[in-house]
Amino acid sequence: MVFFPLTLLFFSLGFQDAVYAVEGNQTCSQSDQRLQLGTYQFTSDCDAMWFCNSTQICDWKTCRRDEFPFGYWTNVTVPPRCPRGQFCPDEEDACQDLLPVGSPCQFNRDDECEAPPNFKDLADTTGFGLNVNGSVCLNNICMWANGTAGASCTVENTAYTVYTLTSEFIDIVSRDDCKVGLYCDASQKQCLTQKDIGVTCTGDKECSSFNCNANGVCDKTADAPVHVGFWVYIVVGIAIFGGMIATLIGMFFMHRKQREADREKRLQYWREQNAFRQNIIQMQETARNSLMSLPLGPGGGNSQHNSMYGSDESQIPLTGGSKSSGLRHYVSDDGFYDQDEDDGVVMRDRKDPSRF
Ligand SMILES: *[C@@H]1O[C@H](CO)[C@@H](O)[C@H](O)[C@H]1NC(C)=O
Ligand SMILES: *[C@@H]1O[C@H](CO)[C@@H](O)[C@H](O)[C@H]1NC(C)=O
Ligand SMILES: *[C@@H]1O[C@H](CO)[C@@H](O)[C@H](O)[C@H]1NC(C)=O
Ligand SMILES: *[C@@H]1O[C@H](CO)[C@@H](O)[C@H](O)[C@H]1NC(C)=O
Ligand SMILES: *[C@@H]1O[C@H](CO)[C@@H](O)[C@H](O)[C@H]1NC(C)=O
Repeated sequence: MVFFPLTLLFFSLGFQDAVYAVEGNQTCSQSDQRLQLGTYQFTSDCDAMWFCNSTQICDWKTCRRDEFPFGYWTNVTVPPRCPRGQFCPDEEDACQDLLPVGSPCQFNRDDECEAPPNFKDLADTTGFGLNVNGSVCLNNICMWANGTAGASCTVENTAYTVYTLTSEFIDIVSRDDCKVGLYCDASQKQCLTQKDIGVTCTGDKECSSFNCNANGVCDKTADAPVHVGFWVYIVVGIAIFGGMIATLIGMFFMHRKQREADREKRLQYWREQNAFRQNIIQMQETARNSLMSLPLGPGGGNSQHNSMYGSDESQIPLTGGSKSSGLRHYVSDDGFYDQDEDDGVVMRDRKDPSRF
């Protein structure tokens, strides 16, 4: 299903290339000029910058319709737009004066028609494109959009083909010469007042909002912004701040657990160090005692020491040092333990272990 419109697009692009292949100074045929089926876009043999002139040769365009025209080379000057009181036709060959009421005009080109004297009253200011300065081009004839309620009217229905990614459908656009705020009823051929939101309808033109929804009821304009209730703002606000606060509380408890684990480790370390200190003091004590009890012979000092260390070390138990804290070879970020390493065991036992 998706494949079909894509191939269609591919073929239509290829087709356009074939049609637009003719460049400047090459022959063309004015009889090939037409509006494309479904989109009603103007096409001719000549490429974007040229039009097919009366001698059937592609010549430079001398006016443009769009502010930013498509397909021009960057090294050429785009032709100007037409001044007020003139229009640039679909062919874009040259500017022309506006056409008086009743004259033939091009499809959907309300801007080609001269304005009525009371254009200020008739002009469309809704933005729906109902007329240009009070004039409309219906069935290729210039008219004024002056039909009052109950007056007979002219209507032009056009079937456009709408291409979506997966499908295509027909969209019928109905235009008329009724005044702004009225629509031309196709069966009665009479101008009727447009319906308010909530009234049943059969077409967009019947609604003042130009939006007859799928249920056949006049709905809000299609571009109306969506307004959400005040409670939605409150719920979203609570959700945002609640989420932030919950995160903070969660982090606090997580870090507290971590802090307690660290403190436990430090306490363990302090006990360890204290035990070592006690061992060393004991060792010194033992050494002193054994030295004092020995008679000092010539050259006996060193050998005595060696034998003493070898024997005594194994005899002294390491109280409380059975489980390692894992901090002995640990170098902290703040250098706390590095500094204390020099102070030695004697300094450390004066400190409150819980402060570590
Ligand atoms: C036609 O050819 C002449 C001479 O080469 C050139 O000056 C002119 O711009 C061409 N016209 C178009 C429409 O390309
Ligand atoms: C048509 O265009 C060609 C190429 O620019 C030009 O030579 C010729 O005079 C033009 N014919 C008319 C009638 O302007
Ligand atoms: C302008 O650029 C196009 C290619 O973009 C080139 O074919 C053409 O000859 C250039 N024209 C001039 C007048 O430089
Ligand atoms: C509308 O028409 C009047 C009368 O012809 C003209 O003076 C005025 O400039 C037009 N306004 C616009 C926006 O075209
Ligand atoms: C309404 O416009 C038509 C042309 O479309 C004109 O003939 C007719 O006189 C106008 N009626 C009024 C009342 O201005």
